[in-house]
Amino acid sequence: MFELLTEHLQRVDQTDDAIFYRVPRLVKHIDHPACNALTDYFRVNLRPQSDILDLMSSYASHLPEELSFNNVIGLGMNEAELSKNTQLNDFVIQDLGKNYILPFDDNSFDACVITVSVQYLIQPIHVFQEIARVLRPDCPCIVSFSNRCFPTKAVAIWQQLSDVGHTQLVGHYFATSGAYEPCRIDDISPNGSSTDPLFVVRSNTTKIE
Ligand SMILES: C[S@@+](CC[C@H](N)C(=O)[O-])C[C@H]1O[C@@H](n2cnc3c(N)ncnc32)[C@H](O)[C@@H]1O
Repeated sequence: MFELLTEHLQRVDQTDDAIFYRVPRLVKHIDHPACNALTDYFRVNLRPQSDILDLMSSYASHLPEELSFNNVIGLGMNEAELSKNTQLNDFVIQDLGKNYILPFDDNSFDACVITVSVQYLIQPIHVFQEIARVLRPDCPCIVSFSNRCFPTKAVAIWQQLSDVGHTQLVGHYFATSGAYEPCRIDDISPNGSSTDPLFVVRSNTTKIE
């Protein structure tokens, strides 16, 4: 459906992401109702006592406070953002645009979440393949997004697409990486057009037969 060309993954601001994230960006891209809708989604779709990777993480992971996880690891760009995140057990600072190899062993996690950040990936297929490597078999990667972003840092194709197009693009990332079951797309926007929309594209890593 998509033929991803080099120009699709370029940004208005092509400078090093470390420059943009030198200052903490303490924004969530989604309003309270959308944050609550995401937490409700996680409540149903994440298992207690599991190991969670919060990729492209900042100061909020949106995980249900009453659920206890075994290990929640964040990976993001800014130490001040990640230090404020009380839901993480630990974090790593890594620029996925420069190095998409995740610093974790194979089969380390039971779920990966990418929240309101997938539009910043410039090597998405490599990153999705790496996520599959560090996830255990038949475990979910949950990608959520709304319609807001840092426009100069989002890839060109994201800027060109509608909400539906964004869901298809993320589905394409899953399919092309070749390591996942067919994806599921959910519109979990809170009721009422006055709130931010919220979409989830989710796929499980391939099962071992
Ligand atoms: C709008 S914030 C979203 C943070 C968080 N996931 C949330 O739900 O609030 C975008 C995040 O994407 C991450 N990010 C952006 N570019 C990145 C890159 N090249 N490598 C790793 N993380 C990146 C940054 O850590 C930044 O905090």
